[in-house]
Amino acid sequence: MASSSSQWTATLCLSLLFLLLLPSATRSAPTRRPIDVPFSRNYIPTWAFDHIKYLNGGSEVHLMLDKYTGTGFQSKGSYLFGHFSMRIKMVAGDSAGTVTAFYLSSQNSEHDEIDFEFLGNRTGQPYILQTNVFTGGKGDREQRIYLWFDPTKDYHSYSVLWNMHQIVFFVDDVPIRVFKNSKDLGVRFPFDQPMKLYSSLWNADDWATRGGLEKTNWANAPFVAYYQGFHIDGCEASVNAKFCATQGTRWWDQKAFQDLDTVQYRRLQWVRNKYTIYNYCTDRVRFPTVPMECKRDRDI
Ligand SMILES: *[C@@H]1O[C@H](CO)[C@@H](O)[C@H](O)[C@H]1NC(C)=O
Repeated sequence: MASSSSQWTATLCLSLLFLLLLPSATRSAPTRRPIDVPFSRNYIPTWAFDHIKYLNGGSEVHLMLDKYTGTGFQSKGSYLFGHFSMRIKMVAGDSAGTVTAFYLSSQNSEHDEIDFEFLGNRTGQPYILQTNVFTGGKGDREQRIYLWFDPTKDYHSYSVLWNMHQIVFFVDDVPIRVFKNSKDLGVRFPFDQPMKLYSSLWNADDWATRGGLEKTNWANAPFVAYYQGFHIDGCEASVNAKFCATQGTRWWDQKAFQDLDTVQYRRLQWVRNKYTIYNYCTDRVRFPTVPMECKRDRDI
């Protein structure tokens, strides 16, 4: 009896604490938490259909890579702005040479693209997360970080928030990168070409691990990447659409999502200080003149 009533008090205290923390927690992270959205609601396989496995009615999907082929899937719809996330557990063990990608891309030649690429490594060596942003066919905006956890141990969520003001890359609730709309500075920003989402697992041992020095060890095949939570909350548009009919009215358009807040900037700074391996913004050899958006993004 005594123990259950003290449990009660503990629960009550925790709930109160939670309530107190709630407002700031909801402000500093994208809302509309992705629940268990099954694969088939938003996605279809793109290639090598026999290398994709569906579990629990498609709420979990495994991608397989062997020496014959990798595989991938894509969203059914095309989107102009929104919030897109995926829970992924990366290829475990000796994953050197493999790349697991999750990205948005438009379909035309002067294309826009928002990329997450996870570069595998030898057993016990850290993965690298490379991100990139293409606007109007121009990329060359690579950033590379180490993660603060082992991405092969558990599922983690990787998401993109995209509105007229900014593109934010999140790892769980931590913003690891922001690309602000710097149209006023002459930098193109993706706003008039719908994008589809894609994910794939493939062999890239010509460049991925230690710049291509580490080759894929096929004795360990098949390599498997695990997926859950196929959440998409975007403005669905036809491939040729130039604007989104609901522009300005959806939750991701609202004030709270037009810029990072103080807590988010602090977290971003933490990632930059502790986990960044490479940032094109600070690469004076490649870019003697600082790219315009880097100042706006507070990357330098
Ligand atoms: C792999 O591990 C090596 C050695 O720790 C490290 O230098 C490299 O950045 C890691 N990641 C990749 C993808 O090469």
